[in-house]
Amino acid sequence: MTGPAQHSMLPPLTAEERSHSERLGAHIRTQLLGAGGWLSFERFMELALYAPGLGYYSAGSVKLGVDGDFITAPEASDLFSRCIARQCAAVLARTGGEILELGAGSGRMAVAVLSELAARRMLPERYAILEVSAELAERQRGRVACLPRPLRERVIWLERLPERPLQGVMLANEVADALPCRRFRCEGGALVELGAGLDDRANELREQAAAADAGLQRAGAEIFDSLAEPLAPGYTSEICLRVTPWIAALSACLSRGLLLLCDYGLPRRHYYHPQRTSGTLRCHFRQRVHDDPYINLGVQDITAWVDFTRVADAAVETGLEVSGFATQAAFLLGLGIEQLVGEAGGAVERARLAGEARRLIMPEGMGEAFKVIALTRELDMALEGFALQDLRHLL
Ligand SMILES: C[S@@+](CC[C@H](N)C(=O)[O-])C[C@H]1O[C@@H](n2cnc3c(N)ncnc32)[C@H](O)[C@@H]1O
Repeated sequence: MTGPAQHSMLPPLTAEERSHSERLGAHIRTQLLGAGGWLSFERFMELALYAPGLGYYSAGSVKLGVDGDFITAPEASDLFSRCIARQCAAVLARTGGEILELGAGSGRMAVAVLSELAARRMLPERYAILEVSAELAERQRGRVACLPRPLRERVIWLERLPERPLQGVMLANEVADALPCRRFRCEGGALVELGAGLDDRANELREQAAAADAGLQRAGAEIFDSLAEPLAPGYTSEICLRVTPWIAALSACLSRGLLLLCDYGLPRRHYYHPQRTSGTLRCHFRQRVHDDPYINLGVQDITAWVDFTRVADAAVETGLEVSGFATQAAFLLGLGIEQLVGEAGGAVERARLAGEARRLIMPEGMGEAFKVIALTRELDMALEGFALQDLRHLL
């Protein structure tokens, strides 16, 4: 966890943020005391991000973009969404049907994807958004309202996954990393679960270990069995058990087409690399990254990298095919990001787009850490996004 020295590098909270944070802290303490004095990290993360009206995603902070806490690929450049749209166009040409975007953030990707598809005369029958944050859904509505009528009329917001399976494309950019995860530490040949307890004065949340339950023990054993060497005592990391039912639920909604997930993450053997001793949990606050989830409650994002092997296993279990796995860089290059830059009118615009493209594809930017996985059902076609790289053997 981050020490006081690192805390002092973070910008101070405004009075409003402090008061919000204290209210969420009080809510989490009440839940914790009700649960006997300890909450799993998964439950803590769920409350910190999604407690109604108080959690980071449920409340009103800016969150995404330069004025917020972090910048996602669609916020960094519309080139990302335009490439996604190209992949959608190819699939929709086969399947017809619709697009369903999960966790649409500010709505910027929805707007850019629809605009690109309109330019290609490949509009989906509808563009559905499933968003758990009422506050972000409101923001998405505001942004979509600026689209020309024939486009905005196709956008609908869903409260839950559709009951009737759809044909077409499902998209989720940086959603899997926002699913609450469990945290563990290896101790004396066993695994203990990390979560939130209270300090001696019972008013500050702090990390506290507890015995791991059977589910976590089982998931841990599965992971350890798959690794080339045992993890050292003290090794700390995350396991997102919610990925499996999430993928199963999405799979059940896709009768034919593509489920495309983009996120930062790794195949399992790299995720639980012996040198990655303190895991992948990160907090984002005003463009600063640190690793203490117990501060800035409700005003900072909390994420953990995605174990793409877990995603692939969950998909295969439900009858989906893993049709591609590549770095974001390879995916975007395969879909012609360079061509999009070259087509821009005017040298100034081309130079601006070239800068944005570099950020999306360079290894020190988003190019390597972010991966894209294609999960398909009844879709017998090569996907351009995976033409340049095939990392499926690593899963
Ligand atoms: C890190 S943001 C990414 C936003 C956007 N996709 C982007 O790339 O800019 C995570 C988004 O996922 C949403 N979210 C989290 N869990 C979700 C779930 N189970 N279903 C749908 N959306 C979810 C959040 O409210 C938020 O909009």
